[in-house]
Amino acid sequence: MSMIVARSLSDLRDVVNLWRSEGLGTAVVPTMGALHEGHLTLVAAAKAKADRVMATIFVNPKQFAAHEDLSRYPRDEEGDLAKLEQAGCDLAYLPNADEIYPEGFVTTVSVAGPAKAGLEDKFRPHFFDGVATVVAKLFIHTAADYAFFGEKDYQQLLVVTRMARDLDLGIEVIGIPTIREEDGLAKSSRNRYLSKHERHQATAIIRTLEQAAEKIRIGGDPQVATKAAARSLMTLGFEVDYVTARNAETLAVPVSSDEPLRLLAAARLGKTRLIDNIAV
Ligand code: PAF
Repeated sequence: MSMIVARSLSDLRDVVNLWRSEGLGTAVVPTMGALHEGHLTLVAAAKAKADRVMATIFVNPKQFAAHEDLSRYPRDEEGDLAKLEQAGCDLAYLPNADEIYPEGFVTTVSVAGPAKAGLEDKFRPHFFDGVATVVAKLFIHTAADYAFFGEKDYQQLLVVTRMARDLDLGIEVIGIPTIREEDGLAKSSRNRYLSKHERHQATAIIRTLEQAAEKIRIGGDPQVATKAAARSLMTLGFEVDYVTARNAETLAVPVSSDEPLRLLAAARLGKTRLIDNIAV
């Protein structure tokens, strides 16, 4: 069966209502396109969980600040649709901007908790309200039972999980481990911005996080280990936004030594901003 492409909410609803009437369980993988193996792994995980899988492709203007890369964000609709079809996705939803933000649209989903942990939110203040607003709409549009997100955007995963629960959106958010290149670099649509030299340097992020995690596992102080990791990235030419150890469930600064920890980092190499995170 070939993949259905829906570009309007009413086309999407026709299909979703049919699936519902047949008693089929559904899952959604929200994306901004420029798909890579990380996204396709989410589709595979969704297929294992639900009878029908939808992927959404929408480059959401509300989560980009004016100085960010909205206009140069990579777009490859034809390639993306081929990849989704190949991965066995049942439906691709590609709403246009008017479908998501019709004229007169003024409502924003305003998120707190993990969204105000002082990580991505500190450097991209409008980001999580923009993400939450579009994800809430995509959840409502698709009315899926499950939604799949990558752990690569760990703070985003916690934010949308909380938002779905707080607003009773009736969808279970499932996080899937980060897919990496052979040398460890987390797969990301933005990796294509890296020059050859920067691409080589970029692996330092995961290497330093792993070294810090190892120090903590053998009893080292998380603050000391993450500070050392930040210093070592700076020495290698990164501009570091943060390297930090946080409670893995709330992203709060840990107060006791038996909390589950997550190490999270964001750093810029030239014009490209890279983020990554690992469990301790
Ligand atoms: O992670 C992304 O690609 C985006 O933030 C998302 C979740 C699709 C919302 O636009």
